[in-house]
Amino acid sequence: MKPKLIDRGAEAEIYLKGNKILKKRIPKKYRHPELDNRIRRERVIKETKITSQARQAGVPTPIILDIKNHTIEFEYIDGDKLKNIYNKLNPQQYNEIGKNIGKLHNAGLVHGDLTTSNMIKHKNKIYIIDFGLAEYDVHIEARGVDLHILFQSIKATHQPNNSIKQIKKGYKKTFPKHKKVFKRLREIQKRGKYIPQ
Ligand SMILES: Nc1ncnc2c1ncn2[C@@H]1O[C@H](COP(=O)(O)OP(=O)(O)O)[C@@H](O)[C@H]1O
Ligand SMILES: [Mg+2]
Repeated sequence: MKPKLIDRGAEAEIYLKGNKILKKRIPKKYRHPELDNRIRRERVIKETKITSQARQAGVPTPIILDIKNHTIEFEYIDGDKLKNIYNKLNPQQYNEIGKNIGKLHNAGLVHGDLTTSNMIKHKNKIYIIDFGLAEYDVHIEARGVDLHILFQSIKATHQPNNSIKQIKKGYKKTFPKHKKVFKRLREIQKRGKYIPQ
């Protein structure tokens, strides 16, 4: 079966091949080829590791099927991208988003690009994908920024209504240090008001 290009970002091309997703990191022309090879390879390994660790921590993520040079083969999650259905979710599902992020943070991981384009609903589970910018980070600041990015993107793209409250409620359930993170989040939000980026 021929792979079909379904998405192309700045860093990667995404192909659907049967029930697999191939995420191929594309070369950056401005980098020296050897260095470029190494960087892409390192990112492939890091994304693979963190995707699996998140899954071990109980966060639904696609199973890694194989790694080939600069390409990761993932299980295809045949569902709805949250970007397209966000306003129609129920409180329980918003709660689930927060629980997943809490589990991620509790495992010492931050995602780095939490938007509704990187979440897929499948059989009443909310999958998190795209750990390409994820890091091992246990600092309150990184966790606050993770939530800030998500809430900003929700406010910019969707009708937040009560969803942010529900996400926070879910986060509280799975992440014991939630109070510190929420306090920092408020500080980050204030900073954002006065420091244009
Ligand atoms: N395992 C997967 N199952 C289903 N769709 C996927 C999967 N991985 C990626 N996609 C689709 O491809 C898009 C881009 O993939 P992503 O990993 O987010 O790459 P990028 O870093 O370019 O954003 C996603 O928004 C999603 O629509
Ligand atoms: Mg993405």
